[in-house]
Amino acid sequence: MTGALDVWLYGTLAATVRPERSGIALRWSDEALRRWGNGSRVLSHLLPVGTPEGRQPTRVRVWLEGLLPEGRARSTMAAEHRIDPDDTLAMLAVYGKDTAGAVVLVDEGAPDPATTGRLEPVDADEIAAMLTHAARHGGGGERLDSLTSLAGLEPKVALAKTPGGWARVRGGAPSTHILKLSRPDRSATRDLIDTEAAALDLARRVGLTSVQARVERFADVRAIVVERYDRVTDGGSVRRVHQEDLAQALGLSTADPDRKFQRGRALPSYAAAARVLTDGGSTTDPLLRLATFTVLVGNTDAHAKNHSFVRQDDGARVRLAPAYDVSMHEHTGVSSGLLALDVAGRRAIADITVDDLVAEGVSWGLPPVRARRAVTQTVEATSAALVDIDRSVHPGVSAAAWDHVESRVQRLR
Ligand SMILES: Nc1ncnc2c1ncn2[C@@H]1O[C@H](COP(=O)(O)OP(=O)(O)O)[C@@H](O)[C@H]1O
Ligand SMILES: [Mg+2]
Repeated sequence: MTGALDVWLYGTLAATVRPERSGIALRWSDEALRRWGNGSRVLSHLLPVGTPEGRQPTRVRVWLEGLLPEGRARSTMAAEHRIDPDDTLAMLAVYGKDTAGAVVLVDEGAPDPATTGRLEPVDADEIAAMLTHAARHGGGGERLDSLTSLAGLEPKVALAKTPGGWARVRGGAPSTHILKLSRPDRSATRDLIDTEAAALDLARRVGLTSVQARVERFADVRAIVVERYDRVTDGGSVRRVHQEDLAQALGLSTADPDRKFQRGRALPSYAAAARVLTDGGSTTDPLLRLATFTVLVGNTDAHAKNHSFVRQDDGARVRLAPAYDVSMHEHTGVSSGLLALDVAGRRAIADITVDDLVAEGVSWGLPPVRARRAVTQTVEATSAALVDIDRSVHPGVSAAAWDHVESRVQRLR
């Protein structure tokens, strides 16, 4: 078992976490209480500021675990540092200095990570090596990696883009981009990063994301380069913006990687995501627009870890994160054809209608007229985006993939 870790958030030493028999105890700092006040959900929907230490050790463990990669990626990253993959604090002691959102985890008593971060320039060959290493071993390896932690199953590395080129991040410096390796050429889903770049391009045109993404080649390796929406560049320096995903917000442990899919269960669900938004003072129309887009592009992977919530440094209103990790699956021949989150109790993506989407939104409390407007506007905007988009920018996306999206849009129109 490792020792305790300090949790830094928006420049404040917000809390300390330490192992406990049944989970992990979290102690809020006086500074966090002063800055955000009792009950603020600046860190998480699940873990309001001021909750007494040791009150919900399982919740704390599950939330922190949600920062780590899943499945084989986690166990091989653990093996690389001879850590028990279930020892969440030990994993985060190594990989927790740059995570999704604004949390920075350091050993208890270590200096403010804002003062210790550094960048190490890397060239295309090194990036290619990091990505292939990530594929073979899950993580990037001690020597090579940025030592960052991101959820998901795809081999990835997080890097900082500087005026001088790419750099790996160390000691608490923030990364600015996520690079995900292409699936192998022999794979039925070899175009996954290509359709991700195209789906993000469509989502941008529909107003569902701010994320810029493109497929690039590093030496002999292809990867998608995704700009992080949880980083803001301000006059040369990079600031983190906090986010958590839906599984974290609901306290769902994704130690079982299937648990982030609904498949008829009560949780996760769109309704629960809608509640996080309304509890945080936001409207749910953007979520219904995203759900509609998910159906239109045939994204069967829109599970609880592919929906997130953003909170600014005042901890006030929550906002649905820009769309990310969206891609087209229906043309591949190996798609389950099932939505990750049910819509009006249904999940066969080919059967979902405008009325189902409207009914889903109405079930969260949206007035029917507003729900219908959100759905139909998204269908129309996606239809227009399909006309406007420059397909030659996405040469890796097959005609079959575009056709699937087009026919889905026509059906919903
Ligand atoms: N553009 C982005 N900006 C900020 N965070 C992101 C972005 N894209 C992904 N993430 C975070 O990184 C995690 C892993 O990325 P993702 O693209 O979902 O990988 P995978 O394909 O392995 O699921 C996500 O769960 C999310 O927390
Ligand atoms: Mg993902």
